[in-house]
Amino acid sequence: MKIDGITTRSIWLEADGHSIGIFDQRALPWSIERLILSEMEQAADAIATMATRGAPLIGAVAAYGLAMALRQDSSDQALEAAHKHLAATRPTAVNLRWALDRVAAHVRPLPQHRRPAAAYAEAARICDEDEAMNRAIGAAGLPLIREIAARKPGQPVNILMHCNPGWLATVDWGTATAPIYLAHDEGLPVHVWVDETRPRNQGALTAFELAEHGVPHSYVTDNAGGLLMQQGLVDMVILGTDRVTANGDVCNKIGTYLKALAAHAHDVPFYVALPDSTYDPATPDGASVPIEERNGKEVSTVTGPDTEGVMRQITVTRSPVRNPAFDITPAALVTGYVTPRGVLRGAEELASLIKE
Ligand code: MRU
Repeated sequence: MKIDGITTRSIWLEADGHSIGIFDQRALPWSIERLILSEMEQAADAIATMATRGAPLIGAVAAYGLAMALRQDSSDQALEAAHKHLAATRPTAVNLRWALDRVAAHVRPLPQHRRPAAAYAEAARICDEDEAMNRAIGAAGLPLIREIAARKPGQPVNILMHCNPGWLATVDWGTATAPIYLAHDEGLPVHVWVDETRPRNQGALTAFELAEHGVPHSYVTDNAGGLLMQQGLVDMVILGTDRVTANGDVCNKIGTYLKALAAHAHDVPFYVALPDSTYDPATPDGASVPIEERNGKEVSTVTGPDTEGVMRQITVTRSPVRNPAFDITPAALVTGYVTPRGVLRGAEELASLIKE
C-alpha cells in the first residue's frame, strides 16, 4: 500500500540481505520513521515495545528475528534459545508463535551451515503468503460490501472498525481493510467509522491508512459505536483478530466484545477477517487464550504532539489502573469469518483453515 505517496510493504529486506526495515509505529501517524533491525535482540525489542505491531506483522518480524539469530549462531541450542526469547515478547497473537514454529521446523533438519539462508527464505515466504492471503480476504469480503451497497443505492455503506487491522498490522493490504480498499477502488461509496482504540490509539493508524488511500472515514471514540448502531448508521462491523480458537471464539483488541454485543442487539452483521495464520485449532476456546496485560501508564496517560509538534505525555489519573489489551468475543456473536478461503460460518467451516 502507500505511505507518503510511496508504494511499500510494512516490512522489507534491506540491501545488505540480512537486515529488515520496518516503520516505527510509535511515531505514526505524526511522523514517518523507518527502523532497521539487524540482530535478533533488536527484532525482539521492536515487538515488545510495539515499534512494530499487529498480529501478522509481529509474526513476520519474529521470523526474520530467528533468521538473524541463526546468522550469529546456527547451533541447536541457539535456535531453541532464540525461539524462546522471541516467543516471549508478546503472549496473545498466535501468529507470533506460529511463524517461529514454522521457521524453526523448516531449519531444524538442516545442517547448521544451511540454516541461516533457509530461515531467511522461509521468513520471506511468510511475508509473501501474508500479502496473498490478505488480497484473498479482500476478494472474499468485497461481495459483502457490494450486497449492502446494492440495497441502498446512492448512499454510503457505513462500516465500523476497531483497532488497526490494516496493512500496517500485516505485511500488506491488511485483513479487515482489504475488502474496504477493493470496494473503494471499484467505486463503491464506503465510509468507515474508525474507533480510536484507547489506550494505544491504533484507530489513528487505521485513519492514517484510510486517508492515504482516499477512503472516506470518521474517527470516533470507543464508546460511540452503540449510539451509531442505534441510529442505523452502521451497516456492518468488520475487524481483525489476534487469535481465533477451535470453537470460533475471537480474541481481538480490547473493546471488540462490546462492539459485538451492540451489533448483536441491533442486528448489525459482525464479521471477523483473518488469514490462516491467525486460526489456532490447538486452543479450544477463548477462555484459554493468554490475555496480555500491559503497563498501566498507557491508560493513566495520553501521549501526542503539542501544537508545536513536540511530543508530550499528559497524566489523566493517579488512580490504580488495569490494562488488559485484548478481549474475547464468543463465536455466537460472529456473523462470519472472512478468510482467504471465503466467508466461513461457524467452527466447523473454520476447520478448513489448515495451517502449514
Ligand atoms: O496493536 P496490537 O499489536 O496490540 O494489536 C494487534 C492488532 O493489530 C489487532 O488486534 C488487529 O485487529 C489484528 S488484525 C491484523
